[in-house]
Amino acid sequence: MILENIVKRRDMVSCVLCQDPPCTKACKKMDPGKALFRIWFDNQDIAALEIPESNICAKCDAHCEAACISRGRVPIQRIMSTLNKKVTPEAEIDIPEDDDRLKCDLCGIPLENPFLLSSSVVASTYDMCARAFEAGWAGACFKTICSLDIHEASPRFSAIEGDSGSIIGFKNIEQLSDHSVAENMEIFRRLKEKYPTKFILASIMGQNEEEWESLARQCEENGADAIELNFSCPNMQEDGLGSDIGQVPELVERFTAAAKRGTKLPVLAKLTPNVATMSPAAEAAIRGGADGIAAINTIKSIIGVSPYTYVSAPAVKGKSAIGGYSGNAVKPIALRFISEIGQNPKCKGAHISGMGGIETWRDALEFILMGAGSIQITTAVMQYGYRIIDELKDGLNYYLAQMGIKSVKDIVGAGLDSVSDTTDVLERDTILFPKFDEEKCIGCGRCVISCNDGGHQAISFANRRPKLDGSKCVGCHLCVLVCPQDAISPGKKRISRKK
Ligand SMILES: Cc1cc2nc3c(=O)[nH]c(=O)nc-3n(C[C@H](O)[C@H](O)[C@H](O)COP(=O)(O)O)c2cc1C
Repeated sequence: MILENIVKRRDMVSCVLCQDPPCTKACKKMDPGKALFRIWFDNQDIAALEIPESNICAKCDAHCEAACISRGRVPIQRIMSTLNKKVTPEAEIDIPEDDDRLKCDLCGIPLENPFLLSSSVVASTYDMCARAFEAGWAGACFKTICSLDIHEASPRFSAIEGDSGSIIGFKNIEQLSDHSVAENMEIFRRLKEKYPTKFILASIMGQNEEEWESLARQCEENGADAIELNFSCPNMQEDGLGSDIGQVPELVERFTAAAKRGTKLPVLAKLTPNVATMSPAAEAAIRGGADGIAAINTIKSIIGVSPYTYVSAPAVKGKSAIGGYSGNAVKPIALRFISEIGQNPKCKGAHISGMGGIETWRDALEFILMGAGSIQITTAVMQYGYRIIDELKDGLNYYLAQMGIKSVKDIVGAGLDSVSDTTDVLERDTILFPKFDEEKCIGCGRCVISCNDGGHQAISFANRRPKLDGSKCVGCHLCVLVCPQDAISPGKKRISRKK
């Protein structure tokens, strides 16, 4: 059984995940900064297994907490003790010695692991890609190359934050690479020479068939391993480019075919989520000769309308524009599109490179289960840095080892059979009741409030304890979701409504 997290992000919410953490410097026995980073990215088991000896924190004066620079207190000692006492004994396997399970491929070309930087600012110079490769990324989809004269606006980003202050949703109005094609080709040559085993995915955008063909050819000649066609940028200044193409299947087919004329390398069409369904564009790309689909690009959005100026963010000298939304908030939308392509028989055999909101190995796993053979990431890297690659690789590797899965390739698409695009397939005759954990419940009554005002008035409150009335409960599980203490879970008891 896979452990659910005992220690969660919210237990360390004041932790700012610093560079060069003072807590680590202050501790002589272990690396609390790394352990906290691991917990943030869903790797509590690995963090627990790395603590050197049992009960180590109980015997110390918490120099780590004294050194912490966060304005809120991070209960490092308590967190480490909990890892030690509760997680280590439950961990089912040791940290695996090798990570061969992560080896996979993109259209037959080997990848040392499924994780690539996605096309954006995070993969826009030689030095950035080199640092990412050194950190352990399997490759990079380079910032989209074009022959346009790109001038970006300032500011160009805006975000929606969660309670911890971390970014949940991210809006950008950025366009494409502002380096010349020649400069980018030189970068490819240098990268391939220095890092021959890393995967270079060249993202391109042409303005007509000749340009699509020529850019694809140049990328192949200069060391790219595969080409990604940007049919999906929502921020283009000019009409008829980016997501304007991705919304018109005939254009997707025509420009894919043009790029294919220029190269023998595998070609992925990067598609836009700004459509009702992605299949028409995906099928058109396959007809045009695409070897795979990359998705999703960013979602058209408006955020942060100022109550004083009435201008949304980012405001550029009193004006704003609809721009692309990304980050963890878009993951459910991305997964839906990935599963749509994964289930489409006309896309069978096509590689799917999945992205949109991936932060942790669990997020990545969800994309893999929905059919993605490789993973791309931008926003989480913008927020947390290339260093998240250790958490992605270690977490996925640990999961695979724990589940006895020999290769990540074995589970690509493994969750697709359970997905239906309509709800008519669902059984509707039984109710699954929630179960209340008396020990975890602190008597806050949040479940009562939500059930009263957003549910079916099935939970009463007496002596600061919730009580379920089974005759009223419809098994919606709103209470499970709102409980701040994780004291409510899906129970085992079901009743049948069939007469
Ligand atoms: C600042 C920024 C710049 C981007 N630039 C490009 C680009 O040049 N080409 C492209 O295909 N996608 C671009 N994207 C989209 C990302 O590659 C990715 O598809 C999207 O952000 C979803 O993934 P994420 O949630 O991991 O960021 C950009 C995204 C961001 C946030």
